[in-house]
Amino acid sequence: QDPSRRLLRGRILTFHAEPTDAADTSAYSYHEDGAILIENGTIRAMGPYAQVAAQAADVPVTDHRPHLLMPGFIDTHIHFPQVQVIASWGAQLLDWLNGYTFVEETRFADPDHCAAMARHFFDLLSAHGTTTAVAYCSVHTASAEAFFAEAARRDMRMIGGKVMMDRNAPEGLRDTPQSGYDDSKALIAKWHGQGRGQYAITPRFAITSTHEQLEMAGALVAEHPECYVQTHLSENHDEIAYTAELFPDAPDYLGVYEQAGLLTPKMLLGHSIHLTPREIAVLTETGAKPVFCPTSNLFLGSGLFDDAGLRGRGITNAIATDVGAGTSYSMLSTLSEAYKILQLQGQKLHPLRAFHWITRGNAVALGLEDKIGTLEAGSEADIVVLDACATQAMALRMQRAQSLSEELFILQTLGDDRAVAEVYVAGRPAKSVSPATVTREL
Ligand code: GUN
Ligand code: ZN
Repeated sequence: QDPSRRLLRGRILTFHAEPTDAADTSAYSYHEDGAILIENGTIRAMGPYAQVAAQAADVPVTDHRPHLLMPGFIDTHIHFPQVQVIASWGAQLLDWLNGYTFVEETRFADPDHCAAMARHFFDLLSAHGTTTAVAYCSVHTASAEAFFAEAARRDMRMIGGKVMMDRNAPEGLRDTPQSGYDDSKALIAKWHGQGRGQYAITPRFAITSTHEQLEMAGALVAEHPECYVQTHLSENHDEIAYTAELFPDAPDYLGVYEQAGLLTPKMLLGHSIHLTPREIAVLTETGAKPVFCPTSNLFLGSGLFDDAGLRGRGITNAIATDVGAGTSYSMLSTLSEAYKILQLQGQKLHPLRAFHWITRGNAVALGLEDKIGTLEAGSEADIVVLDACATQAMALRMQRAQSLSEELFILQTLGDDRAVAEVYVAGRPAKSVSPATVTREL
């Protein structure tokens, strides 16, 4: 008997395409009594229980009925050094960065602090059902080292990079064009493709990088087309105005990144709220991807992301928490706020499209749909087990639910980590393992 083999039984939902509406049943597979056969961290078979169990006679079964098994959630924009910044009061972007975030990120010069925070960070992601994240580390290589080492220890598919920032930030939080390039290059060599780790070249945003640094980031992008690229774009009006002052020769905000050679289909642009027609045309041409960060955009009062407008131009939007400006690690809560932001603009987010978005949709945005985001045979066995009756409020509402779509909508509107009954990372249970403890210092 192979100990890496495991059979999960439960209700199963996985997507093959983005559902256009509730009637679009060809976009997904749903098995009322389904099973997933896992071997060596990979999904070997998925389908009706009777059919899959017949191929796996001696394999131990974990019965998750009546819960719902889905691919693990994917968070495409989150800040690892902001686990102690989340829920900081009263400011919009630039004051929030200077008043809270930069202060906190300076602590990541200490490798011990990085290692401790990395354990908490991955505990939190797992507890919330997130099995892949695209993360910003701090400017310090130690933070990226801790991020990748802890992810590797847990065999999680994680994407991240040290931020490059060489101006408009305090002492101790600045690199230089040369050191940012050298340190990023060394981290790519060490961690990209090491286990399930992948590197994202990460100039923080236009305000904290000189033109020289953005050029060096562009050189890295050209030398490492296998890597992702991530930054922030047009989140806040004051940010946009300051960027225009700092880069008087650029046509607009996106033009700053464009001139530095950063735009590729592997580029993720956090926020992308206040865009000009030219910027939207450039996104369409280059395939760079906006990342919608609903809880963050509401928390910092940044603005309303125009999902339908961008989609209408053939652009693929990712969705993310953006913790620590985001206010929840939960991709369910993120969907809840996304729904409301679209409501304010007369746009609709159907729950089937919503759950596609945080699984296969984000995987497609990352070009990883052959590895994660679905439960097809051959995929990596990252799986979330959802309980739509996890709380009293959810259980009561579920008594009136008549369809899968209604159950999904209850999960996204009322759910959070309490609705995550279990999570499997590369085939191993990861929620039930005890998290690192936090002592309270007063
Ligand atoms: N723009 C540049 N850095 C950040 C950050 O850490 N959070 C958010 N929300 N926006 C940013
Ligand atoms: Zn961010």
